[in-house]
Amino acid sequence: MRIVLLGPPGSGKGTQATRLADRLVVPHLSSGELLRTHIGTGDSLGELVKDTIARGDLVPDEVVVEMIAKRLADPDCVQGYILDGFPRTVVQARALDELLADRGQRLDAVLSLEVETAELLRRLTDRAARSGRDDDASRQVIQHRLDVFSERTRPLQAYYEAAGLLLRVDGIGATEQVTDRALAALRSVAR
Ligand code: AP5
Repeated sequence: MRIVLLGPPGSGKGTQATRLADRLVVPHLSSGELLRTHIGTGDSLGELVKDTIARGDLVPDEVVVEMIAKRLADPDCVQGYILDGFPRTVVQARALDELLADRGQRLDAVLSLEVETAELLRRLTDRAARSGRDDDASRQVIQHRLDVFSERTRPLQAYYEAAGLLLRVDGIGATEQVTDRALAALRSVAR
């Protein structure tokens, strides 16, 4: 299956993508993790994006699209994947549509993890002490990431709803419970 996980920072995309990837036996592709790996290795892409990420802004569309296009061409993606954190703008969503169309493929579903803002702030503030992530380091940057989500990424809910792909999943509760809800939503559309 080819699945996109959509949701604000702290909604549990990474947590659920890992669990769903295990259950569905497909790779978990996190754009944030890929970018942090580049930053960690200190390569030119990492140097290019590190300040943007630390501020909580989005990396330019063309940079992320090129990175993801390369990853999707890897052999382990043939049977499907879970995309976590990509696409994040309408431009990226259109680029993904084109990449898929070129291969005669389409997405199976877009899971939108729904979590209220107070809980997102609580989770991200809790995580800040242990994540070591620059973009978790201050309350202002966390709030900015949430604002960026509202402005740039939330429109994707309407984009994928119009495409008949959006499945809303309540992201509050125990992680296993959220996974069960996501799997039930996916079963409801399995073709
Ligand atoms: P990215 O790495 O994607 O981070 P994010 O969207 O800010 O999301 P988080 O990792 O903070 O949260 P999550 O939803 O994955 O939740 P998690 O499972 O970790 O992106 C980072 C940056 O990279 C972006 O800001 C941007 O700069 C750049 N970037 C990435 N992709 C890009 C793109 N496509 N275009 C442009 N720029 C891009 O959980 C959060 C916490 O909550 C954890 O502590 C977890 O243990 C806890 N938790 C999870 N589930 C539950 C639960 N059910 N109950 C209680 N706690 C829970």
